[in-house]
Amino acid sequence: MLKGKRILLIVTGGIAAFKAQELIRLLRKHEASVRCVLTDAGAKFVTPLSLQALTEDKVYSDMFSLTDESEMGHIQLSRDADLLVVAPATANILARMAGGLADDLATTVLLATDKPVLAAPAMNVRMWTHAATQANVETLRKRGIQFIGPNDGAMACNEYGPGRMSEPEEIVTAIEALLTTEKPPLERPPLERPLAGKRALVTSGPTREAIDPVRYISNHSSGKQGHAIAAALAQLGADVTLVSGPVGVADPAGVTVVKIESAEQMLAACLAAGKVDVAVCAAAVADWKMAKPASAKIKKKAGSAPPALELAPNPDILATLSKPGPKRPALVVGFAAETENLVANAIEKRTRKGCDWIVANDVSPASGTFGGERNTVHLITAQGVQDWPTLSKERVAMQLAGAIALHLTRKRPAEAAE
Ligand code: PMT
Repeated sequence: MLKGKRILLIVTGGIAAFKAQELIRLLRKHEASVRCVLTDAGAKFVTPLSLQALTEDKVYSDMFSLTDESEMGHIQLSRDADLLVVAPATANILARMAGGLADDLATTVLLATDKPVLAAPAMNVRMWTHAATQANVETLRKRGIQFIGPNDGAMACNEYGPGRMSEPEEIVTAIEALLTTEKPPLERPPLERPLAGKRALVTSGPTREAIDPVRYISNHSSGKQGHAIAAALAQLGADVTLVSGPVGVADPAGVTVVKIESAEQMLAACLAAGKVDVAVCAAAVADWKMAKPASAKIKKKAGSAPPALELAPNPDILATLSKPGPKRPALVVGFAAETENLVANAIEKRTRKGCDWIVANDVSPASGTFGGERNTVHLITAQGVQDWPTLSKERVAMQLAGAIALHLTRKRPAEAAE
């Protein structure tokens, strides 16, 4: 989608400037061209030489360079771009943009441009939450500037909270979203909440199928992946219902959590959630339950053989939600937990269960996926297979939520023709 697009990347002076280099690499991998403006403060964190090598283009810093003014003035820099991206956007540049200053090349280009502008803030948590910064952000939003992030997390200054620059993958997803909507800046939904007005259903964790009142059949799912997906969708503005089996992880903030034990209860809770735009089934649902759970504890009798457990199939929640009809979500995403022939089995599972996308992950013991912090997934859609690198479960969740946002907010060809 970014092939041939021209991005003018303004790198300002923050510790997150090092991520600008990965952003350039990713944009170029997507066949976009990138030209950089580097502020004096930005040059304290990354060198013009490294940006020049990555962009294969000159890096622009000097407002008063005669050569540049004749060959590539600030107006031309902006004219030649489809989009201006400020990453990292420090508190200082946001204040200067809000105040309409034009005292260096970066602010001059930003004041002179008629192109869309995306800012990826990065600063200390107190600077971000300061009333002055929030007022500047509000002013810029009202003028049509789009924002991505900042994310919550640990920062270089040893504090925790909002202020971390969005990851380069998230910024690329935001750039794609911006460049594929034709709405004028002030009518675009804010990029950081592209799912505002959408409803999402997420299942997470294991189910427990009672053998008797004290024993059950279950699995090793911790709920980390499913809960991270619910949190990521909520962060992007969706109204999220999370149906969770018994897990030790905390409820994500801003999400309606429904706690269940068995697969049948999970199905009932999913159906009770009503019509949603997207359903993500990340729960590890037990395929079988006891045909007849015992009403009293099964007694161990001396000398007698162990009891045979007669199993019956559980309802398939993913297949039920995927059934065509007026209540079907616009997008149904399943997970495939496999220990062998990962991608082939997952492709078959997508067709058999009738979902739109399936996220395949290896759950063999050596992978450490169940209960672990990281996941290596393959996103399987009708268009093909995307192999994602090994990422933290939060990053997988954010990338998946970004892809969902892009899918749900992209114009269908029929609508585009209207
Ligand atoms: O919870 P974590 O420790 O973070 O681990 C994450 C995870 C490995 C549990 C998760 O990433 C994952 O793979 N979830 C799906 C596990 C699973 O049940 O996979 P499956 O291949 O057996 O089922 C395929 C799909 O059908 C899944 O979307 C599952 O939710 C759904 N299903 C399965 C059986 C059933 N009766 N109803 C269902 O809806």
